[in-house]
Amino acid sequence: MRSLLIVAVFMLAACGVSNRPAREGEEAREVAPVLSGADARDESSFARPEVARVTHVALDLDADFAARRMTGTATLDLQAAPGAPEIILDSKGLEIQQVTDGEGQPLQWALGQGDERRGQPLTVRIGEARRIAIRYRSAPNAEALQWLTPAQTAGRRHPYLFSQGQAILNRTWIPTQDSPGIRQTWEARITAPEPLKVVMSGERLTPEGDPAGEGRRAFRFRMNHPVAPYLIAIAAGDLAFRELGPHTGVWTEPGMLDGVARELGDTERMVTAAEQLYGPYRWGRYDMIVLPPAFPYGGMENPTLTFLTPTLIAGDRSLVGTVAHELAHSWSGNLVTNAVWADGWLNEGFTTYFENRIMEAIYGRERAAQEAALSWDEMQKALIELGANSPHTRLHDDSDDQDGGSSGIVYDKGSIFLRTVERAVGRERFDAWLRAYFDRHAFQPMTSARFLADLRANLIHGDRALERSLKLDQWVYQPGLPDNAARPDPAAFAAVDRATRAFNGGGPASDLPYSRWNWAERVRFLNALPRQLPSGRLAELDRAFGLSASGNSEVLFAWLQLALANRFDPAVPAAERFLTGMGRRKFVSPLFETMVGQGEWGRPIAQRIYARARPGYHAVTTQSVDRVLRGES
Ligand code: BES
Ligand code: ZN
Repeated sequence: MRSLLIVAVFMLAACGVSNRPAREGEEAREVAPVLSGADARDESSFARPEVARVTHVALDLDADFAARRMTGTATLDLQAAPGAPEIILDSKGLEIQQVTDGEGQPLQWALGQGDERRGQPLTVRIGEARRIAIRYRSAPNAEALQWLTPAQTAGRRHPYLFSQGQAILNRTWIPTQDSPGIRQTWEARITAPEPLKVVMSGERLTPEGDPAGEGRRAFRFRMNHPVAPYLIAIAAGDLAFRELGPHTGVWTEPGMLDGVARELGDTERMVTAAEQLYGPYRWGRYDMIVLPPAFPYGGMENPTLTFLTPTLIAGDRSLVGTVAHELAHSWSGNLVTNAVWADGWLNEGFTTYFENRIMEAIYGRERAAQEAALSWDEMQKALIELGANSPHTRLHDDSDDQDGGSSGIVYDKGSIFLRTVERAVGRERFDAWLRAYFDRHAFQPMTSARFLADLRANLIHGDRALERSLKLDQWVYQPGLPDNAARPDPAAFAAVDRATRAFNGGGPASDLPYSRWNWAERVRFLNALPRQLPSGRLAELDRAFGLSASGNSEVLFAWLQLALANRFDPAVPAAERFLTGMGRRKFVSPLFETMVGQGEWGRPIAQRIYARARPGYHAVTTQSVDRVLRGES
């Protein structure tokens, strides 16, 4: 009872603005509340924020490329219930050397029993301390970090480092409470060997860096908004920057800069369009970094600095939907953040909807309708693969095998749900609600239940007929697809589908207007071909359209999926080139799965290619492909 009372008092304090005076050199920083309901309890973290929580992280780290370690100190500011004995942090593979209080007095600490997925709890006896300093180093195989050799970069002369925090990887290099519902401000000083530059997902305080002795430079950063800790990100390498507009720019290796800047030339307009839709961009600059091909995702919405795969650089701006997507996360995800990963759709479904609105604003309705129709196809595929009764087809997926959810559900069903609401109430009303939703919950965690409560209070307003027709609870908590789903525009691919039918009826490839099709039309066509085709037909397609040599990664992927599923030997060299040339999981993992699915033909090819490719892949990708090759997927 006593401790309950302590916790309650503490939570009241935690919900308000910081209740202690600012320390020297510290502006009064905003402290974001932690939600307390059962649906906001993060099973992926050991933290117990109701007892003690981190409010600010200060990193002082050396990037040691020879040892592949980050080495130094993390100083954490805490809020704790009166008399709280300890704080529990998340740690995975961290080598802790010492923990002290703010005055340098040693504190007791222990790494407790953990598990393979989450790592270990790091418990520190805090006494009266509200600041603790942890001296540590990350392990050489820290999953968040990828240390690249010069050969894995475009320039081939300098090593490179990048991080990927989402969902629960940052605990492999930062000892903090690694939970999206525990928002933290942060600052960092990072040293790296010259001539490398360091960039992070926050304000750059020392663009050129300061001398730091022994041929090293130090780079400082800060993030004064409280963010989910998975959004702390770093990259270091031979980097150059190009301004794209007053608020936007891009980093990449010098040799890539011209092509990358051309490809991303619409970004400033996207920011403007996004602000017109859903309110001010609150993060200062919107910069991007195009990483080496090992980056395991298409994009990652690290605040102020989106991380992008070079597989987006198609030469014709066709794949910049991913930029719109990561930009949209500046609202859905970074401003209003899922409190737990079971509600990942609140980040990704909202963002996929918002992405499509940006694409419509910049490139027009036809292109947006096509991309939305591809998203519908992805959802249908997921419903079939998972089975429409599977709990994994629920938007709020709290089943215990935590895999992050299928993107066809979290992204595509999530966005189709929002489009369904939009069509029911009209765009104007929906946009006004969504804009206000971002304002009301800015810099705060969100759950499915809070989202529904907000929607009911501020959009539905007790309209019983509207409430009944929307089927909100079914959308969020039940498997499958409600029958009121907003369907894609049937005109989006009508011409492509007609041409595909003619080809499927035996018509020649040369009759197809393939050369006039955009990437979405080409992908729609390839995905609509029967999964079993004779090699003569595949050869005809490849010859007519140069599919194996496609420079568009989405088209090449769709083609290779079809070709490998048909044991089409002439496509194997292209597959090998693709799979050894980049490490984006979305492409890599399904292609290996397809090969392994082709038994005695495909498995040896998969094993041979993987032996060459694996050393270049990020841990996110090797973990998926290892499972595929073990036959677990
Ligand atoms: N935040 C995601 C990437 C992510 C999700 C990383 C879950 C770790 C766990 C990012 O915004 C994303 O969705 N990227 C997509 C691109 C998008 C256009 C669908 C990707 O990487 O393909
Ligand atoms: Zn996303």
